[in-house]
Formats: sequence, C-alpha cells, structure tokens
Amino acid sequence: MTLSAKKFLKNINIYKPGKPIEELQREFNIKEIYKLASNEIPFPPLYLGKVVLEELKNVNRYPEANCFYLRKALAKKLRVKEAELIFGNGSDELIILALRGFISKGDEVLVGFPTFLIYEIQSQVEGAKIKRVPFSNYRYDLKAMARAVTKKTKIVFIANPDNPHGTYLSHREVANFLEKIPRDILLFFDEAYYEFADKKDFPQTLSFLRKRGNIIISRTFSKAYGLAGLRIGYGITTPEIGQVLNKVREPFNVNRFAQKCAYSALFNEAFLRKVKVHIKKEKGYLYKEFKKIDLEFIESVTNSVLVNFKEDVTPLYDYLLRKGVIIRSLNPWGLKNFFRLTVGLHKENRKFIHYLRKYLEVE
Ligand SMILES: Cc1ncc(COP(=O)(O)O)c(C=O)c1O
Repeated sequence: MTLSAKKFLKNINIYKPGKPIEELQREFNIKEIYKLASNEIPFPPLYLGKVVLEELKNVNRYPEANCFYLRKALAKKLRVKEAELIFGNGSDELIILALRGFISKGDEVLVGFPTFLIYEIQSQVEGAKIKRVPFSNYRYDLKAMARAVTKKTKIVFIANPDNPHGTYLSHREVANFLEKIPRDILLFFDEAYYEFADKKDFPQTLSFLRKRGNIIISRTFSKAYGLAGLRIGYGITTPEIGQVLNKVREPFNVNRFAQKCAYSALFNEAFLRKVKVHIKKEKGYLYKEFKKIDLEFIESVTNSVLVNFKEDVTPLYDYLLRKGVIIRSLNPWGLKNFFRLTVGLHKENRKFIHYLRKYLEVE
C-alpha cells in the first residue's frame, strides 16, 4: 500500500522562492553573487551582533511565547493595545494563521492577480475556493474586486504596496472600497513594504481598523529592517481576531534571536533611514538607466521594480545567472515577459545594468 497525501495537494504548486546565493555558488562555482531577486535589502544589520551574541547564552531555553518585550515596545510605538498585536514567523505566517483560523469548507478567498503567490497557495491548503481579480494597468482593480464579492467570500487579501508591481492604493481608494465590502468579511492588508511607501496619501490602515474591525494589517521586519533571515513579522488587528490567530499558532513561533533583534531594530531609526535613502537613490539610478535603453518599467514605492521586457525573459534570466546576477522572472505568475528587480547595492545595480546592456547589445 502506498501512503497517500491529502488529495487536493496534487493541484498545489510548491512556492518557488528566488534562487538562493549559496545554490548559485554551488551550481556555477561563482564566488561573487548579486542577488536581486527576493526583495531583501542589500545591507546586513551588523549593529545587531552584540544582541545576537548575548542571546546565544539563552538558546538552550524556549523563547517567550508571547514576545513580551517586543509586544510592549511595538504597541507603544504604534499606539495600539498589546492585545491588538500578533507576531509570526515572518509575516507569511500571519497569512497562514488567518486562513487557518477563519476558512471553513466552501469559503471563498478573493485575491488580485498577479500578486504575492502565498495567498493562493495557502488558501488552497486550507481548502478555500480562490477568486482572482486581474490587475488593471498594474494596479488593483478595486471596483472589480468589490463586484467579485459573494455571500461565500470570507477573506480578501490586498498587498499594499503590491508585490510584484510596486504600486500602491491610496487612502481614499481603500476607504471607498471598504464601503462596498460587507463587514463580516475579513480584510487582510499586507503591508510588507510599508516602510518604503513614503507617500502622503498612503492609507492610514489603522483608522480603518478602528472604524470597521475585521481587518488584519500585516507588516514585517524582513524588508526595510533587514531581518529576512530571522523570520519575524507582525499583525495589527482586533483583540478578538488576535485571539483566534493565537489559538491556531504554534506556541513558540518566533525564535529568540528574532524577538531580540526586532526589538533593537525598532529603536534604530538611523539604520531605517539609511536603507530608505539608499533605495530611493538607487531606484532613481535604475529608472534613468532603463529609460536610456527604452525599457518599460513600472514606478515603484517598494524596494523592487517590475520591468516589461516585451519578450521571454528566460534567456536573459539564464544569461544573468551565469554572470552571477539573480533576478526574478515572473514566469511563476504566468507573465513570461516580465521580470522583477530588487534594488541592490550601487555596485550590484551597476553590474546588472552592465550585463543587461551587453545582453541587449547596446553600447
Ligand atoms: C507582499 C508580501 N507579503 C509578505 C511577504 C513575506 O514576508 P515575510 O518575510 O515577513 O514572511 C513578502 C515577501 O516577499 C511580500 O512580498
């Protein structure tokens, strides 16, 4: 007799992350790798060395199950109640917990397409029916999304700003949208790139939470704070929803190093500022270079840029890999003519532009 997994898993594709640096080093025996594929920032937060070493002394003990100190500090910073916060092993985990806590058989989940793929993959795992609403002009089509809501809709996922497009929805757009959405539907605003989106009209999502309830706002320490490898994110929600998510999570879901480093990161505004200034400046450089070679790109408020290459990007992707440069092909999203480039160090961005020009044979 063979051991069979759950039947519906057959139709689920495993999430394929950007190629890891170590893998490319092994495959092509290249030492210097430029990874511009997974929307990480290019600087390691080395100021955390002391914190990590200090915490090593406690690593034989389980971590705090409720992120006690981090919760206090973050609640104060965001001016929310401690019970309105939930922490996850990356903000990815909050997506999983929301689905685990709220989806029953037959429920529908509404997503834009193409967007962050985890919403769909994990919705399938929970047995939800997925409804995709295509993006329009690289932005969420909120009118179409509101029309797509049915009696069975349970959760709506919105990445704001979005990945892979890098575009954002304004406060007014979201407010209008919320007016059309029944209150018993859970709205999940994924704000993984929140810190980069320095826009006056970016939604004050907390005010929506206060007015409407039934909202989860997720953010992460993986992007602007540079802690992707530690896996820690958080959600802001109502204490009632927080309780549900706490019931379905693993008790020690956030490790010791993550808790301590995130806590310190909250107080290091200089690092965050440095990151934001760098990303803005380098995006400017990339835009300028793209314009020189007539490449269509979508202006982004995140740390990545979506490029319409107008032809299959696979040969470019392979060419760059052999040069040690990893970009993200949007093939897994079904967009074979697009790639997404994460903003790297200036040296890395220059290298990428150099090889791109070589590939396109422009001088
Ligand atoms: C839109 C979006 N949400 C969530 C995540 C997951 O981030 P985390 O590292 O916090 O799990 C990402 C990571 O790329 C993302 O792009």
